[in-house]
Amino acid sequence: MTQTIKLAVIPGDGIGQEVVPEGLKVLQAALQGSDVVVETTTFDLGAARWHRTGETLTDADLEAIKRHDVILLGAVGDPSVPSGVLERGLLLRLRFALDHYVNLRPSKYYPGVPTPLAEPGEIDLVVVREGTEGLYCGNGGAVRVGTAQEIATEVSVNTAYGVERVVRYAFEQARARRQHLTLVHKHNVLVNAGHLWRRTVEAVGAQFPEVRTDYCHVDAATIYLVTDPGRFDVIVTDNLFGDIITDEAGAVTGGIGLSASGNLNPAGEFPSMFEPVHGSAPDIAGQGKADPTATISAVAMLLEHVGQVEAAARVHAAVEADMAARARAQKSGQPLVRSTQEIGEAIRARLVG
Ligand code: NAI
Ligand code: MG
Repeated sequence: MTQTIKLAVIPGDGIGQEVVPEGLKVLQAALQGSDVVVETTTFDLGAARWHRTGETLTDADLEAIKRHDVILLGAVGDPSVPSGVLERGLLLRLRFALDHYVNLRPSKYYPGVPTPLAEPGEIDLVVVREGTEGLYCGNGGAVRVGTAQEIATEVSVNTAYGVERVVRYAFEQARARRQHLTLVHKHNVLVNAGHLWRRTVEAVGAQFPEVRTDYCHVDAATIYLVTDPGRFDVIVTDNLFGDIITDEAGAVTGGIGLSASGNLNPAGEFPSMFEPVHGSAPDIAGQGKADPTATISAVAMLLEHVGQVEAAARVHAAVEADMAARARAQKSGQPLVRSTQEIGEAIRARLVG
């Protein structure tokens, strides 16, 4: 029976416009010859739309996006737009409105890939970052702005409900992987939120006796990610800590151009959204220098999410093979210098044989 995937595409800004087409080509190649049909709708969202109309994400856009099964996003944010307008009004609004309570960010080290670590060892971890609460939910305000008496607050919101559902998801991931879950927080100082997280991990963990649990303060976690990243399997953490440590995990595994993520609504009430971890990279935008690999890996996660597990595995394998080719070239003293399109094409070609 034919499966139709209704895909909402948001290329967004900067290199988002360059990497998303490569991701889409790989998606088509991965499904070639199968009975899966992808119907794409491209949404004009981001800096250009904002300049033209003053709109970031209208209710009508949101309703239209909700009618899709899944979303592929490039990146949003542009120096010509005040910082925060697009990030909050578009990206965070999507994550909140679509109740993307799991932000799933895997980091895997491919042997031979340049890394700042002298001995990276085996790195294969996944960060399950809470996506709808914490310091990012817009609970705060400012008064007397611009005066010497300015007051600014951002309140971290942590609900028993919100923590429980993301912790449960993380345990399920850990059970399916290497049965090890690390809570990263700062409960020695953030005693209210921290102990809610700690107690929740203990309570949910009792239902997953096969999963070993650990705890790290976030500052220590930033050390271990550099000195001993192999110790991690699944990390569960809040919105801000997860944002920070996933950039670091991306850096130690070979760079931000490789890290993919999923903003998931595991309950399936709303479409989940897949994207590279990186932003719109205005410093290299429009030059064909962006590495589309993160977006291609996001496509693999997307395929897994819609049940196309075999196609997803082939995309992962194609990425892995390309990584090996890079490593060989690097070793031979002639590192590959390729454009966004050349990398996309190299990976696509491995899928269609
Ligand atoms: P960024 O991730 O865009 O860039 C950081 C550095 O990494 C830059 O030097 C860039 O050239 C490099 N880089 C990023 N992606 C790359 C790729 N695929 N290939 C090669 N090099 C790559 O982060 P930055 O500069 O802090 O933010 C730029 C804009 O993006 C801002 O407006 C920010 O708010 C937004 N942003 C959006 C995100 C999203 O849409 N999910 C996530 C992070 C930032
Ligand atoms: Mg970030």
